[in-house]
Amino acid sequence: MCGIIGVTGGEGILETLLDSLGRLEYRGYDSAGIALESPWHPDPGRTSGEATAGDDRADRLGATLWRARAAEGTASLQALKKLAQAAPLEALAGIGHTRWATHGRPSEVNAHPHLDCTARVAVVHNGIVENCRELADHLLAEGHELASETDTEVLAHLVEAELAQAQSTSQAQSTSQAQSTSQAQAEDGGLPAAPGVLAEALRRVLPRLEGSFALAVMWSGEPGRIVAARRVSPLVVGTESTGTGQSRSLLASDIPALLGKADRFFVVGDDEVVELAAGCVRVSGAGGERIDPSELEVNWDLEAAQKGGFDDFMSKEMHEQPQAIADTLLGRVLGDGTLTLDEVRISDEELRQVDKVFVVACGSSYHAGLVAKYAIEHWARLPVEIDIASEFRYRDPVLDQSTLVVGVSQSGETLDTLQAVLAARRSGAKVLAVSNVVDSSMARQADGVLYTRAGPEVGVAATKTYLAQLVALQVLALYLAQLRGILYPAETDRLLGELAELPGLVQVALDRSDAVARVAARYEGTKDFFFLGRHVGFPVALEGALKLKEISYLRAEAYPAGELKHGPIALIEPGTLVVGVATRTRLWEKMMANVAEVKSRGATVVLVANDGDERSAAEADEVLWVPRTHPLLAPVIDVVPLQLFAYHLARLHGHDVDRPRNLAKTVTVE
Ligand code: G6P
Repeated sequence: MCGIIGVTGGEGILETLLDSLGRLEYRGYDSAGIALESPWHPDPGRTSGEATAGDDRADRLGATLWRARAAEGTASLQALKKLAQAAPLEALAGIGHTRWATHGRPSEVNAHPHLDCTARVAVVHNGIVENCRELADHLLAEGHELASETDTEVLAHLVEAELAQAQSTSQAQSTSQAQSTSQAQAEDGGLPAAPGVLAEALRRVLPRLEGSFALAVMWSGEPGRIVAARRVSPLVVGTESTGTGQSRSLLASDIPALLGKADRFFVVGDDEVVELAAGCVRVSGAGGERIDPSELEVNWDLEAAQKGGFDDFMSKEMHEQPQAIADTLLGRVLGDGTLTLDEVRISDEELRQVDKVFVVACGSSYHAGLVAKYAIEHWARLPVEIDIASEFRYRDPVLDQSTLVVGVSQSGETLDTLQAVLAARRSGAKVLAVSNVVDSSMARQADGVLYTRAGPEVGVAATKTYLAQLVALQVLALYLAQLRGILYPAETDRLLGELAELPGLVQVALDRSDAVARVAARYEGTKDFFFLGRHVGFPVALEGALKLKEISYLRAEAYPAGELKHGPIALIEPGTLVVGVATRTRLWEKMMANVAEVKSRGATVVLVANDGDERSAAEADEVLWVPRTHPLLAPVIDVVPLQLFAYHLARLHGHDVDRPRNLAKTVTVE
């Protein structure tokens, strides 16, 4: 998750880029960077340090590229603004980027824009090019020099390589098109009839890419032109015409970045190539054929738009869950159905030696770890202990070189988890971090790291990062099973297929938010909540209760349903609300027996149940319906209505769901 922006034409290109980058910062702030294209001039004027991208190499018939990048975490944009004081006075076009690191740690050398060998091509990119290693090897063999660890730099060099080919095609076409050019120019403003050389080069690059991307490219050989494309990752294009000849065109990762800067907005389809010149936009398809882009009607104000049209970040982030899961799964499964965890620096041989797993975590991450225990024990047949990090640190766990300790922390900075992981390493255990933040403290301290790719989470209550953790840990469980030869390939294939369906199923659960809101409204006055579940339904119950406590400030207890009769059932009385996770597992009958126990003591019962399960519905006062999946994957879906239930109750009570009282997003104290 990164943010990209591009502007061509009009006044104030630099200011527009910097302002839009500020609006895109929510998408990541590991680094920020811009590249400007200015008219070539024998005296390049003001330039500085790293910020020169080869004035001496400027295309005398084209433009000069100027680049500045800063990698100072949350201060990156401020640092970039300082560097930008040395920018050329006149700009024809510019692109910018704010980064959420995926390939390559956050650093200036990994910051975008990235350049090709000639420093005449500049690229910004959001997404993940899955086959970047293979492409990089190919480019290196051809003599290209790569400066960074990123997948994005590969794109700049691929464009460079295709430009020569595209230039010769374009020359051949130019004669035959000469007659129609003047008419097309009238239609297209500053763009000639046929796609330009850069567009042609990018069109040749796209079929070579696997993964997701939204990218924008400038080339000093076509001054004032920006070419862009997308697959899966978001990209919106805008134009503004002031009527005084000051028209411009823009592109960005989201609409808010362009609000007040464009007056028309267009959608770009997967694998289409879009060319932008001052005030005009042209889209072409895979064969170079022209496509009419569909126009978007945008009537957001800026504040609403920064939350993507949602009322708060929690709601926005819950709705980003399908994407977070899809991105976390991206590239983990090879074409032949085998699993790969490429960021894991522990060798397969070392993982095969593992005879015991410890999972340590806090809060929601601990609940994700509980689900992992079931998955790893069942699929990989390894014993798993799970502990709250602040407890693990102060007991005397028995660890040795064949123990794998999995530290789960979205921030990678939670002090207790970090210290637990460090203690484990000192004991000789292998440590694997599961973190959402690239190069976080925990990721740096671990032997290996498996990143979740949920993008930055602003709401204090974990939602999309929690679902991404569940999926990452399930992939880890399958990977261990594969290494240990426990699962038959056909069984792994089937499970991988079910994992791939999770984003769609989570979307179905999210689409039922209004129905959950209606149930929540009926229990607005309720003060006592019990959450019950069995097997993996128990961690789901824990997470549902935690969400309710965190943002609604309501008393919510969670128990394994079978444990109820050993004490907690004494608290059940008329008026108590019991929320049960009753999706279909082999323990469903037993779960329903526990539901009957609380009902007979006067409790009101809300059940999370699978679509069409009338037997569950018959026992419940209300049902929160969810689609069915494999029982070990079910927590990913079953928790969604519980997140929504807590969210709607919190709003009914008038609480700030993004900033609940007394809580911090990341707890860096003991
Ligand atoms: C805090 C947050 C929780 C989070 C926990 C662990 O308590 O409020 O939402 O689950 O920290 O955070 P981590 O970054 O380690 O996953």
